[in-house]
Amino acid sequence: MTATPGEPSPVRGRIADAAALQVRDVCKVYPSPDGGEVLVLDRMSLSVRPGEMVSLLGPNGCGKSTLLRMIAGLDQPTSGDLRLGNQPITAPSAERGLMFQDPNLFPWLTVRRNIQAGLVARGVLREHRHEAEEFLRLVGLEAFADVYPHQLSGGMAQRAALARALVNRPAVLLLDEPLGALDQFTRMRMQDEVVRLWQTRGTTMVLVTHDIDEAIYMSDRIALMTPRPGRIDRLIDITMPRPRQRTSPQFLELRTAILEMLNFAGGAKDGSA
Ligand SMILES: Nc1ncnc2c1ncn2[C@@H]1O[C@H](COP(=O)(O)OP(=O)(O)O)[C@@H](O)[C@H]1O
Ligand SMILES: [Mg+2]
Repeated sequence: MTATPGEPSPVRGRIADAAALQVRDVCKVYPSPDGGEVLVLDRMSLSVRPGEMVSLLGPNGCGKSTLLRMIAGLDQPTSGDLRLGNQPITAPSAERGLMFQDPNLFPWLTVRRNIQAGLVARGVLREHRHEAEEFLRLVGLEAFADVYPHQLSGGMAQRAALARALVNRPAVLLLDEPLGALDQFTRMRMQDEVVRLWQTRGTTMVLVTHDIDEAIYMSDRIALMTPRPGRIDRLIDITMPRPRQRTSPQFLELRTAILEMLNFAGGAKDGSA
């Protein structure tokens, strides 16, 4: 079920844009509402290989979003360091894309213009216009290119957000519960969509999720986090071949194992439910 840590993940797709991510001994302290301080992350370390998909799974408030914000360069660690490739992360950059639960599309722009927005911001629309069209196609929204966000379903809006994040060809894509607001069926379809894009593009991805099945279905590795102050409790390699079967014995075995690790298996002590 688990493999040797440190084994390189299989090379897939085009990994030219991918980069390794290093989080080393990161602590994050925030001011608390009572005037004190709260330690949110406690010497957290994590290495993500180029082109790898790693899920962060952990209880509410353990610092998952804080970590993603620091990787994005939107917030600074109190101590420790973060690197992408050989470069320290100090500020936001187009090489680190972000996607949230809320698709955050610009309501006054069409789907096409939303997807082009990152290129416009970088002043490279003229040279890269065809890439916006390519991603529009890749996420299956060609027919909706001239439509405004309010006319899209939740799943379509998330696909537009995904295309918008990928159009800058980020070396790493950071996904903070991106599918959390979708109904279960749309969510499962979108998981396939994200995996497909990840396989096509080879982008390094860090996915925050509450959903154990989603983490097993999508990831090369799952990083289980402790309650706050958060750090990695354990790393689980998912070696099941892809596409994965949600109902396979291996899948269910792993799900049970993770529930037990999180002490949520239920009825464990006295045999009652
Ligand atoms: N900007 C901030 N200022 C103060 N406290 C914060 C800030 N951002 C997050 N926190 C606190 O840090 C803790 C972790 O938050 P977060 O990273 O959002 O957790 P998670 O995403 O794992 O649910 C929470 O207790 C939250 O209240
Ligand atoms: Mg969060």
